[in-house]
Amino acid sequence: MKRVDDFRLHFGKQELVPIMVGGMGVDISTAELAIEVARLGGVGHISDAMLPTVADRRYDTDFVKDKLQQYKYNIENTNKSAVKFDLGQVAEATHLHVSHSMEAKGSSGMIFINCMEKLTMNAPRETLTVRLRSALDAGIDGITLAAGLHLGSFALMEDHPRFRDAKLGIIVSSLRALQLFLRKNARTSRLPDYIVVEGPLAGGHLGFGMDWAKYDLRTIVNEIQQYLQAEHLDIPLIPAGGIFTGSDAVSFLDTGAAAVQVATRFTVAQECGLPKDVMQEYFKASEEDIEVNSVSPTGYPMRMLKSCPAIGSGIRPGCESYGYLLDSSGNCSYIDSYNREVAAHPGAKKISVMDKTCLCTHMRNFKCWTCGHYTYRLKDTSHKLADGSYQLLTAEHVFHDYQFSTDNKIALPESF
Ligand SMILES: Cc1cc2nc3c(=O)[nH]c(=O)nc-3n(C[C@H](O)[C@H](O)[C@H](O)COP(=O)(O)O)c2cc1C
Repeated sequence: MKRVDDFRLHFGKQELVPIMVGGMGVDISTAELAIEVARLGGVGHISDAMLPTVADRRYDTDFVKDKLQQYKYNIENTNKSAVKFDLGQVAEATHLHVSHSMEAKGSSGMIFINCMEKLTMNAPRETLTVRLRSALDAGIDGITLAAGLHLGSFALMEDHPRFRDAKLGIIVSSLRALQLFLRKNARTSRLPDYIVVEGPLAGGHLGFGMDWAKYDLRTIVNEIQQYLQAEHLDIPLIPAGGIFTGSDAVSFLDTGAAAVQVATRFTVAQECGLPKDVMQEYFKASEEDIEVNSVSPTGYPMRMLKSCPAIGSGIRPGCESYGYLLDSSGNCSYIDSYNREVAAHPGAKKISVMDKTCLCTHMRNFKCWTCGHYTYRLKDTSHKLADGSYQLLTAEHVFHDYQFSTDNKIALPESF
């Protein structure tokens, strides 16, 4: 009976355990989680989502305070086009977080950064360029381009000295998205070093419409595999989404995948960034408690726990402090929904907005509980304690369970 440990992921001369823990914004896939996964010989991800606010919390900077101070005058204004990021501060925040993570990493595994390209930050090209290049400057091992695949992203780094030495990968959910990317990037004569193929059962934003349930990860992986073979392209494929046990992972590795990307099982590990009480919500969730909805202003469906405070919340848009989803004209669909409800309920102290959510503020405060489809199985991965709560896991325990388990078994942690 094969185990994940019978396989290895090769990046040049580097040999890794073929387990990649996916990026989870905002600071859910923490530096601590990524460092631990790298120590265990795999690939961990930090996330570049909203790094100025993450830096404030972690490294005692004042980026959010400074921004709010500068744009306080605009809070009552429905037009947010004036609210811009200071590119120097974005660079500094990225540098702080990446260098902190890389300095703490030992020699065994790798740490990549998940770059949420859908964070358009009221100047998509300029802010993305700074984020990508600062991560390279600060020594990141690799960059995974995610959510909203910006077809020109490689070109934004093309003249960076580390463009050909850092590992650069993309996340796609269809053969078509991959083909578009390869066509657009042919000019840079640089192929991605890996392709994460993310299916419809993943957490976070989905690369599908609301008809996500019609799709299936294995079918998409097979299609992409056949295409790469036909084109004689030797690029490691990394399936993601719903790979819950070591045996699930082996079934992909055995048929040619180079590694697997997983996330959900790590959301209840101590090193993960979710507050401990939120981890208990993940543990307790049943299948009916999870939905894919369209409340994200990005326009992508997102999977989350139905009970999360972000759904229906009618808070004032927090763009003067955050503003990561403002498009190049300073618009965000939550602002429109919020203004509509304010106009419909004149004088109301509290309003509810059902169709969109203020994703920046709620992700920042861990009030948007995005999760993978199999979150309802997390309760089977630990012990229920006398008070009804569940014992938290360690990243090492979850990683080793993926690495060494057979027969679809899930090892429970030592109880305390
Ligand atoms: C809580 C959570 C947050 C996530 N956030 C992101 C993100 O910010 N960017 C991204 O590309 N993928 C994100 N994902 C997707 C994961 O990186 C990963 O590809 C996927 O969830 C793997 O499937 P699994 O959760 O079933 O193991 C997130 C997943 C979870 C569970």
